[in-house]
Amino acid sequence: MKKSIVLLPGDGIGPEVTRAAATVLREAGHEFHHQFEFEEFPIGGAAIDAAGAPLPNATLDACRKADAIFLGAVGGPKWDALPVGKRPESGLLALRQGLGLFVNVRPVKLLEPLRLISPLKPERLGDLDLEIVRELAGGMYFGERGTTHEKGIERAFDTESYSTPEIERIAAFAFTRAEARSRRLCSVDKANVLSSSQLWRRTVTAMGTVYPNVKLEHMYVDNAAMQLTLKPTQFDVMLSTNMFGDILSDEAAALVGSIGLIPSASFGTSAPMFEPIHGSAPSLSGKDMANPIGAILSATMMLRDTFGLSLEADWAEQSLVRVLNTGVRTADIAEPGKKTVACSVFNDMLHDEMQRTFEHAEKYGWGV
Ligand code: IPM
Ligand code: MG
Repeated sequence: MKKSIVLLPGDGIGPEVTRAAATVLREAGHEFHHQFEFEEFPIGGAAIDAAGAPLPNATLDACRKADAIFLGAVGGPKWDALPVGKRPESGLLALRQGLGLFVNVRPVKLLEPLRLISPLKPERLGDLDLEIVRELAGGMYFGERGTTHEKGIERAFDTESYSTPEIERIAAFAFTRAEARSRRLCSVDKANVLSSSQLWRRTVTAMGTVYPNVKLEHMYVDNAAMQLTLKPTQFDVMLSTNMFGDILSDEAAALVGSIGLIPSASFGTSAPMFEPIHGSAPSLSGKDMANPIGAILSATMMLRDTFGLSLEADWAEQSLVRVLNTGVRTADIAEPGKKTVACSVFNDMLHDEMQRTFEHAEKYGWGV
């Protein structure tokens, strides 16, 4: 298999987790004889510094031609004073929009060796395994915004707006995803207050008749936030807007131990993009303390969901769980008082384990 992959390391811990993800992809290519070609481009603050814009044309062009894109993270205190449209984050939003990426899937699944670090009691946590389907190309992120000055008073506004087709296309994805899982879909909105949410709920309800085998439920976002901590196992696939999905995915991530663990995949009209959901984590930047797991699982989503290489993805994921089983932890997922390793050390241990697993599999077969 021949694939061209664009790497966008970005800012903060972005470059170090991108290295971790790229190494897993490179090793999968090497061991299983695929030709993965990598090209790296700047985005976010790194691109502002290098090229004067958070999404240079060359970066967008390269992404348009790629088979898949991996993004680390964008943003940082250095660029915090910039206005909204010029910040590193605006580069990521422009990229999502430029690539027509309207779907963002965020799987939140408990990794068994990390059960004890969850903030939830074990009986509430259960075998947490859900997916958040976040609309990625509309809503308040892309609505009309601005500031006004009237009689010496400054006002700023952002607009939440969705059209029926925008809701239908993301709902269709979520229903299909639910069909492939446990056939339960919870659509999250604020239809008791927002008109955009009323259209959202009406549209999703109408779509429900197309998928009669999926049990559809609606929940207000405030209740959904509460239910996530009270009884997260009631959820399977959660569908939501760009804004609510952003918020709920951070909350759900915390339930399984750390936001550093959660991958994501974005799909749309051109190449898919894979990114951990954690962001640039300025306080960890340059300290070799990042958790590379969200990035690595984003890479295995690329292998499995986009390239159809499930053996390669299983290989990396099983090796990862074995490393965790030996008690090796980055700081964010260590139990209090337990020893931690640096991000680079964790990666080295993973690669040793991947080698061992591969040699074992070559000799005895997979799954032995
Ligand atoms: C995420 C992040 C981004 C978002 C930021 C960095 C623009 O929080 O991917 O969840 O809000 O989409
Ligand atoms: Mg976020």
